[in-house]
Amino acid sequence: MAITAPTKFAHIVYRTRRFQEMLDWYSTVFSARVQYKNPALAFMTYDDEHHRFAFADMSVLQPDGSETEISDTIGVDHVGYTLGSVGDLLENYASLREKGISPYWCVHHGMTLAMYYADPDGNQMEFQVDLMDSSEDASKMMATRFDANPIGVEYDPEELLACYRAGTTPAELLSFYEGGPVSPIRGAFAKLVGSA
Ligand SMILES: [Fe+2]
Repeated sequence: MAITAPTKFAHIVYRTRRFQEMLDWYSTVFSARVQYKNPALAFMTYDDEHHRFAFADMSVLQPDGSETEISDTIGVDHVGYTLGSVGDLLENYASLREKGISPYWCVHHGMTLAMYYADPDGNQMEFQVDLMDSSEDASKMMATRFDANPIGVEYDPEELLACYRAGTTPAELLSFYEGGPVSPIRGAFAKLVGSA
């Protein structure tokens, strides 16, 4: 089956050890505003997208990093692309799986349903379906949920694909986020925070 291309580029996530300095810089240069912030993570936007940037503070997530590790761990964590529908996300997953390309992490972020892939060089990217009608709704979700669970709820893509193909509605597929367990952080990021 053909791969459905993303509808847009959505965001970029950086790992930093200059957390506040980075927020200030992006605020100045992009006229960006903070959508949500806790001691380890911050989300910013400059338009209707709920986040255009996110920042992970490695001095909190990996406080004992040596100078060498610092140079290894700061920089781009991943870039995010938005797909047009849950069906696109799941059918792309199935098509790519046939080509031997599988996600390293599948997580329901609340605002988005996401799959993370790494390219041959190890660059990480997220394919997401946006579940929010507006950045106001996203801000509300961040404000009410992210203190308890800023990462999301992991899911089994095979299970979700089977449900989708069996005719489960997108709304039903997405509803399991409510009350789900907080996900441990996975992927290359996990190596950095020791939770792999
Ligand atoms: Fe992301």
